[in-house]
Amino acid sequence: MCNAFQYRDGILCCEDVSLGDIADRSGTPVYVYSAGAMRDRLHEYVRAFSGQNALFCYALKANSNLAVIRTLAQAGAGADTVSMGEIRRALAAGVPPSKIVFAGVAKTDDEIRFALQQSILQINVESLPELKRLSAIASSMGVDAPVALRVNPHVEAKTHDKTSTGRKQDKFGIAHDRVPEILAHMRELPGVKAVGLHMHIGSQITALDPFEAAYARGIRLFRDMRAVGHPLTTLDLGGGFGVTYRDEQPLDAQGYADLVARLASGLDCRLLFEPGRALVAEAGMLVSRVIYRKITDDRQFLILDAGMNTLVRPAMYDAWHEIVPVRENGGERLPVDVVGPICESSDVFGRGRMLPPLDSGDLVAFGSAGAYGAVMASDYNSRPSPAEVLVDGGRWALIKPARQAEEQYADESIPAWLDEVPAA
Ligand SMILES: Cc1ncc(COP(=O)(O)O)c(C=O)c1O
Repeated sequence: MCNAFQYRDGILCCEDVSLGDIADRSGTPVYVYSAGAMRDRLHEYVRAFSGQNALFCYALKANSNLAVIRTLAQAGAGADTVSMGEIRRALAAGVPPSKIVFAGVAKTDDEIRFALQQSILQINVESLPELKRLSAIASSMGVDAPVALRVNPHVEAKTHDKTSTGRKQDKFGIAHDRVPEILAHMRELPGVKAVGLHMHIGSQITALDPFEAAYARGIRLFRDMRAVGHPLTTLDLGGGFGVTYRDEQPLDAQGYADLVARLASGLDCRLLFEPGRALVAEAGMLVSRVIYRKITDDRQFLILDAGMNTLVRPAMYDAWHEIVPVRENGGERLPVDVVGPICESSDVFGRGRMLPPLDSGDLVAFGSAGAYGAVMASDYNSRPSPAEVLVDGGRWALIKPARQAEEQYADESIPAWLDEVPAA
């Protein structure tokens, strides 16, 4: 568990605030984020890169709550976005356009136009059709789009199959061996200006060697492209820095910075990074209440009010999250299956977890839940969506209330012809 979450007098706290108090006042399930932990993690990376010309653009996809973005923006981060919605969120949270990068495998015309109107820092382009579309839109607007081509370096990120993005079979980026030809073609296209190269090989990477393999290839390409006259100024090395869920060693920020310094030595360019998970995962816990303890011939289940609709990572990626009681409990630890209330067999958070006796009304907390948690929550089964809370020292605030079923269906409507006949 991250340092921001500690037991005090037997109650699990986030910084100086009891998770029990938050749960009682905000309701459960509730995601609780430590502002201090987010800032600390960002500063760790910034410190590791001191002396290098680096900007950290927080990848909003990990957690796009405005208060989270603002916390990181105030600490110096820019924003890495993948949709017009995320660009709007970044702007609404106060990130200056000059620190916003727009990535993503399929940008629509409206999204491209919006990004250009905002004069954001850079658009990362993933294919020739996208480059041509960008060129047509930018030239019709009379502007030059600052472009970084996303290079697919064809490497294994040594992470989960579903979070790998830099292999030959992945849909992301432009094959590294086609980049020279596309850059050359780009010179003929109006409205687009090559400012750099971009790479992002996957997520939750805890070893340095996949980065080394990918970056070595991308940086060689960067040097070669400059040598043939492309005035590239930016190298965007993506995100993907791994964190601790169970017993993984998180990526060592200084080791990573040293690797980049060695590979990019003498390059004299601006470095961009796009960490998402690394900045927010361990800074967040999900607090949930036990609805029932159910005992069968075979096992015990703890059935929670959080389910795969609240935190989908275990069902989606077989992800492991630590689960702990919010109130310390000296009872004997026994194996229990911790599950959600959703009508799906995959709605399981963990089997055979060793937990002290817990029963209806008790609270549990999930570790490392700040990334890819609340953002992936859904209305499935029409259960309330999770609330979100930000803690900063002794202060805390509800930064998103739970949405109840009535609010979830408030914008749905019944066509008039169905209204003419009352329900049977
Ligand atoms: C292009 C790009 N940049 C950054 C990220 C953030 O990754 P992570 O949260 O692992 O740092 C992603 C995530 O998939 C991505 O696709």
